Amino acid sequence: MIEIKNVYYSYEGVNALNNINLHIEKGEAIALMGPNGSGKSTLLKLINGIVSANHGVYKFDNEVITHKKLQDTKFAKLLHQKMGFIFQNSDTQLFCSNVYDEIAFGPRQMGMNEIDTDKRVNDCLDLLDLQEFSYRAPYHLSGGEKRKVAIACVLSLNPEVLVLDEPMNGLDPRTQRWLVEFLVNLNKAGKTLITSTHNLELVQEISRRAILFDERHMIVADMPTGKLLEDIDLLIKVNLVDKYYHMHEGKDHRHFHDHNF
Ligand SMILES: Nc1ncnc2c1ncn2[C@@H]1O[C@H](COP(=O)(O)OP(=O)(O)O)[C@@H](O)[C@H]1O
Ligand SMILES: [Mg+2]
Repeated sequence: MIEIKNVYYSYEGVNALNNINLHIEKGEAIALMGPNGSGKSTLLKLINGIVSANHGVYKFDNEVITHKKLQDTKFAKLLHQKMGFIFQNSDTQLFCSNVYDEIAFGPRQMGMNEIDTDKRVNDCLDLLDLQEFSYRAPYHLSGGEKRKVAIACVLSLNPEVLVLDEPMNGLDPRTQRWLVEFLVNLNKAGKTLITSTHNLELVQEISRRAILFDERHMIVADMPTGKLLEDIDLLIKVNLVDKYYHMHEGKDHRHFHDHNF
């Protein structure tokens, strides 16, 4: 479904992706891991068509995605209907005056009539337990509620793929637990999940396969998530686990670095 070959990307001279090669099949649950600044968000943006490769090829559903094609609004809309992106900061994603209009925005953009849009919006409000927030201003909601609204907005288009950038960030433990279960169920229902996360405790629940970046913006491991978590030496090497803690506290997951800022 997703094919990335020899992809490089730089932000005006700042290197962010170095020779990335990656295949993702429909229905997979995959996690991007790696230290800060290693390129996780950039790869998610590339997959979502927000940035395009300087070199190399990105294919979605066997079609090469190019900068030129993405400038065609119709093409970009179709891509975003198939693939939803949950931004790291929900505020950047929410701009309507109430939750209902926020969720209705995507379907309306796709030209859906108001009767069908209303049904979609209500399905999403139910699914995320947001009915009581329908006419509230997204701006004034809590972080967890905003994250739910952002997810509802993306699900209102019924995408095949969900791309989530650090979705656990800023959520309290109970909301994190809720989100983990919600994502697991979406994956069971057939949605492909691509998540970036620093959360070494929850990553195993939301992914079966992990991609590890290092500080050179390269992929240094692509393996089952459980196996990666056992490879402490590798995690120390890429700076995801603190060597000092590991030496003194043992392999207890509670002593993994809390990069959850
Ligand atoms: N908008 C931007 N402009 C310039 N450099 C950026 C921008 N966004 C990210 N970078 C740089 O690109 C590299 C990869 O960043 P990013 O993909 O955000 O990493 P991660 O999500 O793994 O923390 C970093 O060196 C970062 O500083
Ligand atoms: Mg990031």
